[in-house]
Amino acid sequence: MQRITKAIRTRIDRTNEKEHSSPLFLTSSFCFDDAEEMRATFADEIDNNIYSRFSNPNVQEFVDKICVLEGAEAGYATASGMSAVFATFMSFLKAGDHLLCCKAIFGSTHTVITKYLPKYGIQYTYVDADKVNEWEAAIQPNTKMIFVETPTNPGLDIIDLAVVGALAKKHNLIFNVDNCFATPIAQQPIDFGADLVVHSATKWIDGQGRVLGGVVVGKKELIHEIYLFCRSTGPALSPFNAWLLSKSMDTLEVRMERHASNALYLAEKLSDHPQISWLKYPFLPSHPQYAIAKKQMSNGGGIVCFELKGGLDAGRKFLDRLQMLSLTANLGDTRSIASHPASTTHGKLTEAERQEVNITPGLIRISVGLENKDDILQDILQALDAK
Ligand SMILES: Cc1ncc(COP(=O)(O)O)c(C=O)c1O
Repeated sequence: MQRITKAIRTRIDRTNEKEHSSPLFLTSSFCFDDAEEMRATFADEIDNNIYSRFSNPNVQEFVDKICVLEGAEAGYATASGMSAVFATFMSFLKAGDHLLCCKAIFGSTHTVITKYLPKYGIQYTYVDADKVNEWEAAIQPNTKMIFVETPTNPGLDIIDLAVVGALAKKHNLIFNVDNCFATPIAQQPIDFGADLVVHSATKWIDGQGRVLGGVVVGKKELIHEIYLFCRSTGPALSPFNAWLLSKSMDTLEVRMERHASNALYLAEKLSDHPQISWLKYPFLPSHPQYAIAKKQMSNGGGIVCFELKGGLDAGRKFLDRLQMLSLTANLGDTRSIASHPASTTHGKLTEAERQEVNITPGLIRISVGLENKDDILQDILQALDAK
């Protein structure tokens, strides 16, 4: 049976009502028949639900579907992608440890690594996404984990998962991959040696811009540590959000096929536009890591990014001229979204800091939606061509 079929058919056991669609278990806690059952459950002798901060049937259903697609042994779902990322750091890193991380990563992850981890005595080194062969030199005796995002947000760098997976194995490091941009449909990092895979389910997994969610999957013993950290610190996913995300999982493959084909179409049509100095899409042969993307991804994802010739000012004007694409902070929606990181998410950074994380002044990120591909293209073209 294909992973996708198994994921779609994975569901909570039917109740006596014999419902076809999984019901919503909107409950904070669960009951015990007697004192002995309660004692045995708390003593981990019986695997029953206790409290929805620890576990909940809807949350488990969502986790199980992700585990099937990622080929993972176990998982834990969180309230947001950032709580998933943070849980992986806090569960395995302690004072004196060192983290190796690719330079181009999502802004909040960058903040956690540079501002908060050092408060707990955890050191880090950023390495270039396109120079994985140089990463071994950055490994220190106290390095515990390698964290990467691929494709990266927003610059769409591609990191060779097989090379980094082998490096992590050689040095006995935890290999932790943020697979948000690829989705578990296009890329399964565990097949390349990842120990942990994190997702912001807020993006393509929900796919309709409704709820926040996150998930970590991987080896059973590692996920148990994450579970212990999360059950005490409380970043639990709401059962309602889990119920919604489970429903979304069943359409993820067909949605991602259309997002990716629309994105490839836009990339091909826009790459030679006179207002654009460069355009990146993982499955466009001109992408610097095209061969790696083709090797480890089954589609190029739903994000296209390009650099406008006029820099910061051109980026702001481009956003103002768009008539259909949404200006919003999210990505991975049915509706196409345009963003200009240099004047928004990364606007508080200095020019030098932005350069450091590859945010160039005219960088535009398009999250390609499910609208008709020519309607999306026309809106972008009229915004590029307007005088
Ligand atoms: C690659 C990546 N990781 C993590 C996150 C954080 O996810 P959330 O907003 O669900 O906390 C995001 C959000 O955009 C992201 O793009």
